[in-house]
Parts: sequence; structure tokens; C-alpha cells
Amino acid sequence: MLDVARGTLNVRPPMAHPLEDLRTSAVAVIATATDEHALETLRVRYLGKSGSISAWGERMRTLSNEERPAVGKLLNEARSAVTLAIECAAAAFRSRGETASLANIDVSLPGTPAEIGALHPLTQMLDRTIAIFRRMGFALAEGPDIETEWYCFDALNTAPDHPARNEQDTFYLPDGRLLRTHTSTVQIRTMQSAPPPIRVIAPGAAYRRDEVDATHSAQFHQIEGLYVDQEVSVGDLKGTLEFFFRELLGAQTEIRFRPHFFPFTEPSFEVDVKSRALKGGEKWLELCGCGMVHPAVFEEVNGARGDDAYDPEKYSGFAFGVGMDRLAMILFDIPDIRLFAQNDLRFLRQFA
Ligand code: DAH
Repeated sequence: MLDVARGTLNVRPPMAHPLEDLRTSAVAVIATATDEHALETLRVRYLGKSGSISAWGERMRTLSNEERPAVGKLLNEARSAVTLAIECAAAAFRSRGETASLANIDVSLPGTPAEIGALHPLTQMLDRTIAIFRRMGFALAEGPDIETEWYCFDALNTAPDHPARNEQDTFYLPDGRLLRTHTSTVQIRTMQSAPPPIRVIAPGAAYRRDEVDATHSAQFHQIEGLYVDQEVSVGDLKGTLEFFFRELLGAQTEIRFRPHFFPFTEPSFEVDVKSRALKGGEKWLELCGCGMVHPAVFEEVNGARGDDAYDPEKYSGFAFGVGMDRLAMILFDIPDIRLFAQNDLRFLRQFA
């Protein structure tokens, strides 16, 4: 339309549909909400069950087929625009809230340091030992700490009057069972449950009624080893233990076998080790008991199995027991065995 008087072209926009007005005003009102509560009231006003946009949904049904598509489109647009406006406003309130709570944090304060744990020196010792024997094909075996006299002594060819059985040396339970005095019990359990060949190590705790001092503890740790097959010799035993100690303490480590007595092995030895890697350097240190499995042990096992799987004429084997606490004390230069159990972080941290 030409407005000649003013000399300008006055194009009046076509009349907006009420839904467009509703959309425009709703978005504008939502933008003025000052908090989450006010926003929620507005959401109900427009989008709630009896809200004004929802009311248009009802009204759609009364429209003619011609009108419906266009109005439906406007309604969808209005609903999306209002929903989006509400979501944006809500997000803004949330982030404002977060900023406010962060404002109270003093980032210049020192943090709380996260404690980094470490393995106990005895565990480290055990892990190293196990890793070396695994490379030689030894599997892990285990047995219970509470044992019967048979597993701890009889089956291991220990005489009825042997002092180790004494109540002064061994912790007995009221029912006659006991806390194992060594891990050699696992030899018996392993042979009982499987026929030869056997090649196992058994790490675990052992208990003795010792007077507790810097080198004695009522609970200590051993690794037991057992190798049974045809034609196993003292040479195999010697080679195995030499390899173990050289891997653990260095290639220049010297090893000495001294004849000794254990009821369950014949011949029996104590093994002394000398290594420059250790403090106290040139001294021989006794670290291990070992020997060739006594035929009487095989016979006891056969009796319990009810077969002849461990025929001493056919099979031979070696066994050994290494004290883990003592080895760790020597390797890490620890002066007192009690430190292992006192949980003093000043001590434990040194091994982290
Ligand atoms: N059981 C012995 C001890 O606790 C150590 C030992 C010695 C184990 C000789 C063995 C062995 O297997 O053959 O003192």
C-alpha cells in the first residue's frame, strides 16, 4: 500500500497467528525468570497438562482439515521453542549454582595427598622366590595352617618322641590338632592328591612356640619345595637351589651343602650361602634345609592313598624348605623379625 502523504511504502505484516504470539511472549517471559522455582511455575503455565500450549493441542481437534496442518506446525514450533527456552534457563541456573559453590573453594590450599600403597617386604620376597621357581617349572601348592599330627609329623617320618612334637615347641589346639610347625606338611598333601611326577613349591606361614626376640617369631614364613620323578638325584637338588640363590642374590653367589639330619629326607643337608650382594658379605649364612625324600615318607603316602603310586624303588625326589623371613632380613638388611608384623609405616615405607 502506498502512503502517498508520507511518501513511504507502508507494508503491514500479515496478522500473526495467536500461537505465534503465544510463542513469542512465552519465550520472553521465560527469559525473565529469576530462579528455578519461578521457571518451574512457567513450565507448568505453558507446558503443564492444562497449560496454554497444551490447550492448543486440544483445540486442534476442532479445526477443519484444511487448517489443521498449518496450525499443527505452528503448535510444534511453539512447543519446541518454549521447551528449549526452559532448558536453557535451567542450565543457566545450574551453572550459576555451581560457580557459586566453587567460589568458596580456596585453590591455593595444599591438597590432600593420595597415599600410594606398596607390597610388604615379605610379600616382595615371596613374589621374587615364586617367580624364580616358576621359571623352573614348579607349580604352586598350598595346605592349611591348622594341621593334624599325622601331616605335620607322622607322615614325615618324625619319631613319636621327637622334640618338635613337644608342647613346649608346638601350639596344640584343644582337639589335638596343631598349628603347623613347617610347610613340609604340604609335601604330604600334594602327594596324597596326585601321582608322580610332582614339582611344586608351597609358600605359607608356620608356627612355633619360640621365645620371641629379634630373630624368632611365633609365626614365620617358609617356602617348601618338592620334586618327585624317576631318577631324581642330589645333583638335581643342588642345581635347582644353586640356580635359585644365584638368581636371587647374584651370579657370584657361592653355595655350600653341609650334611645335616631331617627325619623326612636322607641324605639331608643344610645350605649355606655367601654373597657379596649381602651385608656381612664374606660370611656363610645358613638359609635352607633340604634332602632326598626318605623312602619311609613315600610309604606313608602310599598307605594313605591306598596304592603304590610312590614306589620308592621306582621314584625318588628332593625336598627343601627356605625361611622367607630370614631371607628377607638378610636381603633387605632388616635387623629385627618383629618389624614385619608391627605395621610401622616408617619401616614399611622403605620398601615402597
Ligand atoms: N621343615 C624344615 C624346617 O622347618 C625345613 C626342611 C628341611 C624342609 C629339609 C624340607 C627338607 O623339605 O627336605 O626346619
